Amino acid sequence: MFPLLGLGFLVAGISAVTAAGSSSCTGTISSLNDVSSAIKCTTVNINAFTVPAGQTFELQLLDGTTVNVLGDIQFGNMSWAGPLFQVGGNDITFNGNNKKWDGGGPFYWDGQGTNAGITKPHPMMGIYISGTLNDVYVVNSPAHAFSIGNPGPLTISGVTIDDSQGNYPNSQSGKNSAGRNTDGFDVGGSNLIIQNSTVLNQDDCLAIGRGTNITFADNYCEYGHGISIGSISSNVVVSNVEISGNNVVSSAYSFRIKTDASATNSMVQNVTYTANTATNCTYYGVLITQSYPANMGTPGNGVTISDINFNPGTTSLTANSGAYRVAVNCGSGSCIGNWDWSGLHTSGGKAGSIVNNNVITGFTQ
Ligand SMILES: *[C@@H]1O[C@H](CO)[C@@H](O)[C@H](O)[C@H]1NC(C)=O
Ligand SMILES: *[C@@H]1O[C@H](CO)[C@@H](O)[C@H](O)[C@H]1NC(C)=O
Ligand SMILES: *[C@@H]1O[C@H](CO)[C@@H](O)[C@H](O)[C@H]1NC(C)=O
Ligand SMILES: *[C@@H]1O[C@H](CO)[C@@H](O)[C@H](O)[C@H]1NC(C)=O
Ligand SMILES: *[C@@H]1O[C@H](CO)[C@@H](O)[C@H](O)[C@H]1NC(C)=O
Repeated sequence: MFPLLGLGFLVAGISAVTAAGSSSCTGTISSLNDVSSAIKCTTVNINAFTVPAGQTFELQLLDGTTVNVLGDIQFGNMSWAGPLFQVGGNDITFNGNNKKWDGGGPFYWDGQGTNAGITKPHPMMGIYISGTLNDVYVVNSPAHAFSIGNPGPLTISGVTIDDSQGNYPNSQSGKNSAGRNTDGFDVGGSNLIIQNSTVLNQDDCLAIGRGTNITFADNYCEYGHGISIGSISSNVVVSNVEISGNNVVSSAYSFRIKTDASATNSMVQNVTYTANTATNCTYYGVLITQSYPANMGTPGNGVTISDINFNPGTTSLTANSGAYRVAVNCGSGSCIGNWDWSGLHTSGGKAGSIVNNNVITGFTQ
């Protein structure tokens, strides 16, 4: 018996080595049961299926894997913390093929977001890969859509996040928009490009919490809270960010940097806004505030904000009547460096305050 068992282990060991050596196979996923064998292959095809309620569809991929999404994915509806999907791996090519990932938003949307009401699974899509991710089409995320923590360089292109149904009240939300805290892209990673994507939602289109070398280019954001850096908590760095060629439409804020009033030992450095357009801003066009969560409260100065430029290129911004075009609320001595705002052209709305900032040049309200 013992020798046989030993042989059995040996055979199992050899076949594992063989499997690893022939990872060039194609794995196919048509249910969660298929995941563990499919991820041993460096091509993974995903067919249409429904992920059972209360379970995460999780892919921990071999380096160099190509994923092809070939059908629509749904998630069973249930109040739980999530996430609904997450993917990890290095040098991954993730082809979404514009197949729909339906988070079932209306089941959860009660106008109260992530801090109250029904527990909403979030993020819907946890992206922890390097490589490329293209043409992923998300509809109706229960709350935050994408959370990104890439382990190496990642380029995201052609993603759609359509939570537009959440703009309207429903039977659970009273008079409020049903969708809330439906952030588009929450970023905590470096060497990241997000381009040519569309976000229709009720919170930040982009929110960068930490990271360096981040480009957000040629995206379309509608109805939500626009393009944000922050909110910045303690002990984090955001640096070398380029925001270019984006179109922000009918949003409460267009371009915002928000640092927590209580945050310490953090830095936001070298952010360049180039050739963006914002129209029908409904609350603040540009808002840089160190009193978050208050917009124009008592600012903290534990976060240094330096070198925030609207130049080169022209960023044009039109504020709705009653909205502020530009407001800046810095802590004492914490907004420093060169702030060349000569490319910022604003119209409509009214002027906001500029507090504790004598480094902006090339712009007057
Ligand atoms: C979850 O509920 C939403 C809203 O009613 C619905 O659109 C979606 O199809 C449901 N998902 C499933 C898997 O039944
Ligand atoms: C941008 O995305 C759209 C929709 O996914 C796609 O049709 C188009 O080819 C993309 N354009 C570029 C320049 O990548
Ligand atoms: C940012 O990009 C520069 C230039 O490519 C590179 O030298 C640096 O290592 C990058 N920073 C991080 C944190 O990867
Ligand atoms: C500022 O960030 C840009 C990317 O937006 C980068 O090319 C440039 O080298 C950075 N400047 C410094 C001084 O780090
Ligand atoms: C302006 O934005 C608000 C809020 O998103 C929206 O309700 C309104 O329809 C928009 N107006 C125009 C002219 O697009």
